[in-house]
Amino acid sequence: MNTELTLHQKTLTLHRYPVRTNEMLQAWDAGDEYLINHIEEQEITPQKHILILNDHFGALSCWFSQHHRVTVISDSFISHQGIKHNLEQNHCPTVTLLTSVDDIPNDVDMVLMQIPRNNRFLGWQLSQLRTALCSNVPLIAVNKAKDIHNSTLKLFEQWFGATTTSLAWKKHRLVFSQPNTKKTAEHPPYLEWNIEHESIMLKNLPNVYSGENLDQGARFMLEHLPADPNIQHFTDLGCGNGVLSVKMGQLNPQANIRCVDESFMAVESARQNLLSNLQHAHQRDIECLANNCLDNIAGQSTDMVLCNPPFHQQQAITDHIAWQMFCDAKHVLKKQGKLLVIGNRHLRYDIKLSRLFGKSNVKTVTGNKKFVILEATK
Ligand SMILES: C[S@@+](CC[C@H](N)C(=O)[O-])C[C@H]1O[C@@H](n2cnc3c(N)ncnc32)[C@H](O)[C@@H]1O
Repeated sequence: MNTELTLHQKTLTLHRYPVRTNEMLQAWDAGDEYLINHIEEQEITPQKHILILNDHFGALSCWFSQHHRVTVISDSFISHQGIKHNLEQNHCPTVTLLTSVDDIPNDVDMVLMQIPRNNRFLGWQLSQLRTALCSNVPLIAVNKAKDIHNSTLKLFEQWFGATTTSLAWKKHRLVFSQPNTKKTAEHPPYLEWNIEHESIMLKNLPNVYSGENLDQGARFMLEHLPADPNIQHFTDLGCGNGVLSVKMGQLNPQANIRCVDESFMAVESARQNLLSNLQHAHQRDIECLANNCLDNIAGQSTDMVLCNPPFHQQQAITDHIAWQMFCDAKHVLKKQGKLLVIGNRHLRYDIKLSRLFGKSNVKTVTGNKKFVILEATK
């Protein structure tokens, strides 16, 4: 795997996070290169304040921190870690690293953006930028040409201002936008909806997984969560908006709760949803944290782990996250503790769980045409 990015006679060494032996995927894409080349050709004066949104693993942060003051905003804990590691490894000056729930600074000279996959999140980021920035601050965004649709450009025009695009280069296109819409538009941060047949109302920040409707797997899992007075503590791994832990918390009022996700917006949505849907929530120990799976969480610290694993990480489709989640779950479970997993039938999570927990400790709780719920006992 190529880890050296060489442009304009300068080389950066860049790794994805977490660093894995036999990594097949590069830590930057042609979009990063296109943005860097474009800005280098502009020969802008040094020491500008550049705001970078959604940098994947730090290619943009490392490059621009060398001559400018850089602030980076990302919703991803994993990107934050990747950016920090790569800045350190390349001996780059420090940057200000903000999460997607932090305020946008209002003294920036230029904004660079990797366009996010999720249009609601894109609209939210553009509306926040428009509110924070003066009308002379240019925004240059990038994505694969095939992912820049008319609807994408309409969002730039609606929430930000006049927008044009570049020619395609290595299958990527730049989007140029100037903040000149009227500043009146308000993009509500939360989308709220009830779950049918449950007393659950969910608030969803723009980049939370399945923030516009309930995930089908989660819907099936809700019907099969246990009520067990012996569960003193459970962990919702990859919690999204916290839907599974809200229901589990309702069924098990004695239990303390830990919700973990790599999206800062997911963690904040889950925190809000636990507080607003659980009775006496303030008297319970509820912990919501951004993390890469269960890194650095104490072993033998929980009675049950709930998990609806993701299929992709940072634009890449992969099943290594599910494997890491299962390994971490086993580590944090107490003896006799249980991992409850929902997955599409064809993913065959039973094979992974049997390898890890032993075949006789893995059982199928239930299934339908599409999904299976598996329980692995430590
Ligand atoms: C399929 S969604 C499940 C969300 C929610 N539990 C549900 O059932 O609707 C998987 C979640 O895992 C999170 N995730 C992905 N990679 C992660 C990682 N390395 N560590 C922690 N969470 C991760 C995603 O942000 C997403 O919210």
